[in-house]
Amino acid sequence: MRLLFLGAPGVGKGTQAEVLSRHYDLPHIAMGDIIREAMRKGTPVGLEAKAYVEKGQLVPDEVIIKVIRERLKEGDAKKGYILDGFPRTIRQGEALTEILEQEDAKIDHVVNFFVDEETLVKRISGRRSCPSCGKVYHLVYRPPACEGQCDCGVDLIQRKDDRPETVKSRLGVYKNETLPLIEYYEKKGDLQNIEACGTVEEISKNVQSVFGSA
Ligand code: AP5
Repeated sequence: MRLLFLGAPGVGKGTQAEVLSRHYDLPHIAMGDIIREAMRKGTPVGLEAKAYVEKGQLVPDEVIIKVIRERLKEGDAKKGYILDGFPRTIRQGEALTEILEQEDAKIDHVVNFFVDEETLVKRISGRRSCPSCGKVYHLVYRPPACEGQCDCGVDLIQRKDDRPETVKSRLGVYKNETLPLIEYYEKKGDLQNIEACGTVEEISKNVQSVFGSA
């Protein structure tokens, strides 16, 4: 099964993808995680992406498309995947269609998670993540067992792009560049809208009821 998770920054796509990748035994391919890892390692992609990410802007399409093309060739992606944070522009959506056509494959479900802007900002401002294992927490909604520390023992950090001024820029970029992509999938008749309110578990159940039990 191939799934696309779309939605604004902080809506909870990554959290849902993490839960559902375990449930459906599918790799969770998160473009944001791939980019942050490249930035940590200082690879050419990471060095190019850094300035864009830190300003809350999108990394250029040609860089992202090259990265996803390589990632989807890896062995674990053969059985399917959950794509989180890709595509984000019409150009990326068209590139994905091309990649799939070359493999005679298709996306089974395109899910658009939505919630009001006040909730997005609350979720982003309280998010903390582990720089070592990548696990994501929230100070109020998903606190770590031990304050300030991941279950793996490493100190939690706040993402640089989760600072208020950068969040504003990310939300603006989402409206200008990603909303048209959502309309693109809507017109194709592929889109399933899921309201991302309630607990993580409630939302996962709603998603599963759309997909059926694989
Ligand atoms: P990326 O990391 O993908 O950021 P994003 O899309 O802005 O999404 P987020 O990670 O902020 O949010 P999420 O929806 O995954 O929410 P989460 O589950 O963490 O990308 C970062 C940057 O990389 C981009 O700005 C761009 O520069 C670049 N980039 C990435 N992809 C790109 C692309 N395709 N093209 C170009 N550039 C690209 O949840 C948020 C918080 O809420 C967490 O603390 C969580 O615990 C909490 N939470 C989740 N669900 C609930 C719930 N139901 N109730 C209460 N709290 C909840």
